[in-house]
Amino acid sequence: MTCFDIDPDITKARTISTDLYLDPRYFELSKEKIFARSWHFLCHENEISGLFPKTLLPGVLDEPVIIAKDGGELRCLSNVCTHRGKILVEEPCDATLIRCGYHGRRFSLDGKFLSMPEFEGVADFPCESDNLKQLPLANWNGFLLASLDPVAELADVVGDVAAQLPFDRDKPMRLSSRREYNVNAHWALYCENYLEGFHIPYVHRGLNAVVDYGSYKTETFRYSSLQTGFDADGQVAARYLFIFPNLMFNFYDWGVSVNVVRPVAPDRTQVEFLSYVSDKSKLDQGAGADLDGVEMEDEAVVESVQRGIRSRFYSHGRYSPTREQGTHHFHRLIAEFIG
Ligand code: FES
Ligand SMILES: [Fe+2]
Repeated sequence: MTCFDIDPDITKARTISTDLYLDPRYFELSKEKIFARSWHFLCHENEISGLFPKTLLPGVLDEPVIIAKDGGELRCLSNVCTHRGKILVEEPCDATLIRCGYHGRRFSLDGKFLSMPEFEGVADFPCESDNLKQLPLANWNGFLLASLDPVAELADVVGDVAAQLPFDRDKPMRLSSRREYNVNAHWALYCENYLEGFHIPYVHRGLNAVVDYGSYKTETFRYSSLQTGFDADGQVAARYLFIFPNLMFNFYDWGVSVNVVRPVAPDRTQVEFLSYVSDKSKLDQGAGADLDGVEMEDEAVVESVQRGIRSRFYSHGRYSPTREQGTHHFHRLIAEFIG
């Protein structure tokens, strides 16, 4: 198999081998090597009361979980009964304990086994494996993320960038829309397009009119990167935070658009756009006004790249040292995780 080795010096580096996108073995390998080690978006804490079933990264990890709110405490538990494996919570509800609808096994909101009918005389029962597994859960400024086996705590994954982000916990954040886009391209091609503003003047005429290309800035951190676009007056028009490998938090005047990139097949990706609005009056203004139009423009170029990388004449490119630091950083992380 190919060794992905990206020179840390961007002026010397070549872009990642197209084998990453074309060889289905890397697509499979990335599930365990990348996605099982990273943090995945669940929802905002405002969406939850009681028990809230979710799937951790559908189509990739496909892990059924419950977010359980127990007073002020939030936990992420396995949503699979430890008896014969039924899904425990099928719909959001406000129950004060978890009861399996198959044979009546009961668990407390912290996942501990409570009771089970007809199990008298069963040896070594109950034991630790009869409790529901608890997964690492992070509450990041109200956004909930979970992981199977994180490479680092979420705060360390996001890193020093956090201090620059305009979170205002006093302004309530409400989920106002959810859209799904299906893109005929590899998930990493979709992400690496997001990670550079280099293409804005060529691809996004509308966005280019509100974001000043000259002052556009990219900063990289250990597992995240931040792009900041300014308007003609030097005010921040948008901040684009990427959390490796597939999460995007876009900060606009109206609130936050969360994009979750979900691999479906080596040449198919689903992207979910969730709009969390804190100031409705600004929805139609500036860089966050026409997200759907910008998305269509991005999808067209990313799908074009998917067709281009199949060429026998293309295997690697080079990076612009001033405009493609985010893409270089992303490729370096892929190489690090896949090994
Ligand atoms: S599967 Fe849950 S009690 Fe049997
Ligand atoms: Fe774009």
